[in-house]
Amino acid sequence: MTRINKTSKFAIKGALAALALGLSAQGALAEKVKVGLLLPYSGVYAALGNDIQAGFELGLETFGKEYDFVIANEDTEVKPPQGLAKARKLILQYKVDVMAGIVSSGVLGAVRDLVDGAKVPLIVANAGNDDATGAKCSPYITRMSFSNAQVNRPMGKWLAEQGVKKVFTLAPDYAAGRQMIDAFTASFTAAGGEIVGQEYTPFRKTQDFGPYLAKAKASGAEAVFVFYAGGEAISFVKQYDSFGLKKDIPLYGSGFLTSSLYVNAEGPAAEGVITSLHYVPTLDNPENKAFVEAFKAKTGRLPSEFSAHGYDAARALVEALNTGARGREGIANALRSVSFTGPRGETSIDPATGNIVQPIYVYETVAGENGLTQKVLASLPVEADPANGCAMPAPK
Ligand code: PHB
Repeated sequence: MTRINKTSKFAIKGALAALALGLSAQGALAEKVKVGLLLPYSGVYAALGNDIQAGFELGLETFGKEYDFVIANEDTEVKPPQGLAKARKLILQYKVDVMAGIVSSGVLGAVRDLVDGAKVPLIVANAGNDDATGAKCSPYITRMSFSNAQVNRPMGKWLAEQGVKKVFTLAPDYAAGRQMIDAFTASFTAAGGEIVGQEYTPFRKTQDFGPYLAKAKASGAEAVFVFYAGGEAISFVKQYDSFGLKKDIPLYGSGFLTSSLYVNAEGPAAEGVITSLHYVPTLDNPENKAFVEAFKAKTGRLPSEFSAHGYDAARALVEALNTGARGREGIANALRSVSFTGPRGETSIDPATGNIVQPIYVYETVAGENGLTQKVLASLPVEADPANGCAMPAPK
């Protein structure tokens, strides 16, 4: 594997790492596959981008030894116009065979038409934007992460079944926040629950959640349900506790809120928070055990859902290449039929939408021997997302 840095010079570190792994000798024989990684390396989601990259590289090292991957990284920050400019650069300047990454639903929305029009395969390694595998789906977009509705829809029903009837919701005001809360709200109210208040906080700009927490407190809610991720999740969880709300109104959310990537930065404030997600590092299956060990050996820390997206995105690419698929068109087509048992359990791509089909887990953040950990409370049924207006020809 060779990494090309942002100025398109060969990164010395990457070249040395490739030599150390013996990949350069092999690389002379192996076929080159040019991969463009579009990730945030700065801004509120920077830690997520770095974790996805670590997982992606591990996935290529684990599954893709026969290929010589040349990787170009571009920083999308968390800004749609920046993401679009960087995607264009990867396609036109680096002439990549395939792109992977994208953390923010806003960035995914911005690059969708470019990807579809340029016919370059994109493996989404985070952004849950429902439209990208719904009304705005494309044969060139395959998602190995989750959709915003998929993670939150089962949680609305589950929470109502626990006897919680009145909920106040909060999320950042952008596509992901709105879609996650919409999916939760639809299933929670269908199961007899009531939303007693709903607020959206300015994305990337809210430092003080106090005014919103005051509204939640006054709302008569029995529980608060939120989506926050990255730096915003850390601030929110800490403020929820220091505001004194946690002991009176239990906190629920989509599981990015208490991701293993940063839950220890949240500290005791995160204890007892119950959320839903498609991956936690405590899942008890052999594929996950192997992933956790290999990730720890590589990085010195536990993986998160973000590293799992990267790892599975790399594996999906390798599986597509293993079918003999080559070039942008061939890889895009083969990606639509990928399926394997990975760290999250049974994982497959729905050829009708390009979205992943996978189990969703409810987990509680609890104190463990080495800091906070994830106790799985329930495994919810695997459900493919509805087509939501997606109409594509079947893969060839
Ligand atoms: C998104 O914008 O789609 C998004 C970002 C961060 C997450 C989850 C979803 O943790």
